[in-house]
Amino acid sequence: MTTWLTDEFVDRVRSESDLVSVISTYVPIKRKGKQFWGCCPFHNEKTPSFAVTPDKGFFYCFGCHAGGDVFKFISMIENISYREAIIFQGEKLNIPLPERTRSPEEAAREEKLKRLREAHELAGKFFHNCLTLTKYGAAGLAYFHSRGINDNIIEEFNLGFAPDAWDKLTTAFAKRGIDTGLLLESGLVLKRQKGQGEYDRFRNRVMIPITDERGRICGFGGRVIDNGSPKYLNSPETVLFNKRKLLFGLDKAHRAIGQEGFSLVVEGYMDVISVSAAGVKNVVASLGTAFTMDQCKKLLRYAPAIYFCYDSDNAGQEAIARAIDIAAGTNAIIKVVQLPDGKDPDEYIRRHGVDAFRQVVKGALSVVDFRLKHIMAHSDVSGLEGRLRVLAEMLPVLASIRNTVERSAYVSKVSQLLSVSENDILAELGKKSRRVSDKSTSVRTMRSVVRQVDDAGRRAGRTVIRMVWDEPALLEHFSSLVPIGSLPDPIHRQILTALMEKYREGEAIRDITGLAHLGDEAVEELSRAIVEDLGEEDRSLLYEACVRQLRRNYLVSQYEVHSRNAEELYRQGDAKYLEELAISQKIKKEMDELQGVNY
Ligand code: GTP
Ligand code: MN
Repeated sequence: MTTWLTDEFVDRVRSESDLVSVISTYVPIKRKGKQFWGCCPFHNEKTPSFAVTPDKGFFYCFGCHAGGDVFKFISMIENISYREAIIFQGEKLNIPLPERTRSPEEAAREEKLKRLREAHELAGKFFHNCLTLTKYGAAGLAYFHSRGINDNIIEEFNLGFAPDAWDKLTTAFAKRGIDTGLLLESGLVLKRQKGQGEYDRFRNRVMIPITDERGRICGFGGRVIDNGSPKYLNSPETVLFNKRKLLFGLDKAHRAIGQEGFSLVVEGYMDVISVSAAGVKNVVASLGTAFTMDQCKKLLRYAPAIYFCYDSDNAGQEAIARAIDIAAGTNAIIKVVQLPDGKDPDEYIRRHGVDAFRQVVKGALSVVDFRLKHIMAHSDVSGLEGRLRVLAEMLPVLASIRNTVERSAYVSKVSQLLSVSENDILAELGKKSRRVSDKSTSVRTMRSVVRQVDDAGRRAGRTVIRMVWDEPALLEHFSSLVPIGSLPDPIHRQILTALMEKYREGEAIRDITGLAHLGDEAVEELSRAIVEDLGEEDRSLLYEACVRQLRRNYLVSQYEVHSRNAEELYRQGDAKYLEELAISQKIKKEMDELQGVNY
């Protein structure tokens, strides 16, 4: 839903927001000089690396690189978009939203979505009250209690019960004057085949509301309380309920996912409820369908690793293999949790307790180990022929390991497993890698590792960004010596180009819109630049040293270009090579002189 935001509104919300008090409502932070420090709410840590610089309005975590302004913080911690964070904070501060005009279609669409959401919330209340307050709920309560689901969990997950009757919900909603068309669209009621009127879709089932990542009900899963079938009945697909995008439990799990560094994906609703109730909060489930790319990407917003913990039956293991294939298309770090005794997570926890479950999760297998184990599990390796067949299946897995040390370790493991010599395996692998081009699906690197090493050039770039933020006029000076497009770091180029645009248009470079347009990585790097301590050094000396360093880098690259040109022209017998040579020599001269120069 888009809401019109005027610059005045955004400015006002920003200027009335106190970064320190906003952050303090979520995490304890302590003053240390001009800054505040605390343990980062976005990853798990014991010593504080989360810094807030109130006079500039920025935060930055030196551990996980999260950073930004007050709206960025709210959007991350509340799991909403940047725009939504502005509105959220505006509402908190009682600043009226600016009026806007919408097209009639837009207004109608929003109105319908709103009413569909309301109907779902109301149905959630209806089922929950049936379970907890009415006599119809007794069977549902007995069922939940028999599965170890107590009243606290019932409240936390807003669980409910659909009475054993044809039209309890239909009648209750009709009484409230809720539009029948809307109810039919939500799938909560169905049209009678014979005769007039509607009837309830969900009857005599315990009800599990399925919420989006912000906790809004989008649909329901209803489970039989006996051996009836189907075991689960779900809401049909609607504009709210997209099974390929939603993940059950994400609204309750996202913060823990960020803190733990991984999400735990299980198969069933009951698994999520049980695992979460036992205290392992970073757990979600896909909705009875295969794990999708959309779901994968959604989870990667919170942590770089995904652990799959599916049922240990065959179907579960096949489902994991498919999920791995899906996730392989991203840079997710994937692990597989295998429950020892043929159980699902819910049953495992009930039988062995949560500590045992945590241990099993800790022992999650890498994808390679999982694949090798999977191949072994369905193969007969007693005879030579069987072993060779298995080897043939394992070769692509081995070939996919990019890291050579890791690969040799696995080669030696496979050699022991199959009693085949390492050399033979290596020889087969050699043939293989020449045949197939390596698509490197097994290189999965943490975002922080992927980031460029923080070398002197990068530090200098960041210092310049900081100085420019404090004193925008420096941009002219800097870019006259170091063309922004020549900076080696693409993120720095992006930041400085955006700042330059603002500056040239005569706008304040701190202007929000400029910041909102930057990508996440740029916002993080900018925050780092602003929050980072520059030390006691004289500012102008520091600036000069940085510019010198970046200018030297620039000259080196220019020198290479022009010498290469000269060489090329010379080889072609083109006399213009002399011009290029002159340019490159001039550059060389400046490089040599640069040592003692101040700008
Ligand atoms: P319990 O038997 O209650 O412990 O359920 P479970 O969560 O262990 O379910 P199971 O492992 O059998 O199935 C995993 C998920 O698949 C469920 O949570 C549902 O989302 C989905 N599912 C299972 N059975 C059905 C069914 O009959 N119909 C539909 N539409 N989905 C189902
Ligand atoms: Mn189960």
